[in-house]
Amino acid sequence: MAKKVLITRIIPSIASDSLRAEGFDVNVWESETPMTHQQLIGEAKKVDALIPLGANKLDKIFFSECSHLDVIAQFAVGYDNIDVAEATRLKIPVGNTPEVLSEATADIAFGLLIAVSRKMFFHHKLIERGEWKQFEPLKNLGVQLTGKTLGIFGLGRIGMVMAQRCQGAYNMKVIYHSRNRNLEAEKLFNATWVSFDELLQQSDVLSVHSVLSNETSGLFNKSVFAKMKKSAIFINTSRGGVHNEEDLIEALQTGAIWGAGLDVTNPEPMLSNNILLTMPNAAVLPHIGSATEEARTGMARIAAENIIEFYKTGKMIYCVNPEVLKNN
Ligand code: DGY
Repeated sequence: MAKKVLITRIIPSIASDSLRAEGFDVNVWESETPMTHQQLIGEAKKVDALIPLGANKLDKIFFSECSHLDVIAQFAVGYDNIDVAEATRLKIPVGNTPEVLSEATADIAFGLLIAVSRKMFFHHKLIERGEWKQFEPLKNLGVQLTGKTLGIFGLGRIGMVMAQRCQGAYNMKVIYHSRNRNLEAEKLFNATWVSFDELLQQSDVLSVHSVLSNETSGLFNKSVFAKMKKSAIFINTSRGGVHNEEDLIEALQTGAIWGAGLDVTNPEPMLSNNILLTMPNAAVLPHIGSATEEARTGMARIAAENIIEFYKTGKMIYCVNPEVLKNN
């Protein structure tokens, strides 16, 4: 009998096309809104394999009801919505989709950096409100980025592209703090590993590219912002949960840091009356890091390939708990 796969939102059709071409029975949840937790559990009970999105919570309750799943292939690089420890305990492999979205996501980090440094979103709103009256020699000036120090928190694939962008465009010095040394970055960008405190003290631009985990949840809070340069720009394109939003707002209001660019917020979606949307030195986007044709198509392709490979060979293209794969 054909293996059944559930895709929890409409994603690029390359996923269902390639799965169907390999003989899978594919069901796509076609509603414009994400499934509720109950709907997810109810539908996942009927299938062998799942392609979830970040909005789906695969928590202990989910796994207690769906321990039968053969494989999960997340349509995202991040997988903080999945209790991977529980999946591992149940020997369910979990795949994700790195690489294909690194360029797109780093572009958003880089774009936010330029937007914040020149208060672009704020100036745009001035025009919309009919408040552009004349040339202003002294008002709302930005800052230049050339030769500044880029500090990267979590230097993986996306951080590497951000480093390349910033060094190529602005000849920025690159420092980073990650659990592990990144020797490739040290060679390519002359990047220097520094302690977390050194990262805070030395960065002119601090760009977050880490995962959301117990260690990073709420990490960028009042005391952390207080250690940063008053002239620093904070960029977060990873997960909103890594920063404390109230503390970030206060840091911007009190001048503890100079500016902030966010593609991720906490909660998501951000409410339209959030004060960050009116602050001159802030730029916020609605989690569009991977939103290019190329990246989303690549993510759909890899999610499907992860499932196809798993059933064919026992391996996956990208697996976050490879210890459960028999043929790893
Ligand atoms: C990812 O791939 O993790 C992006 O944030 C989209 O969810």
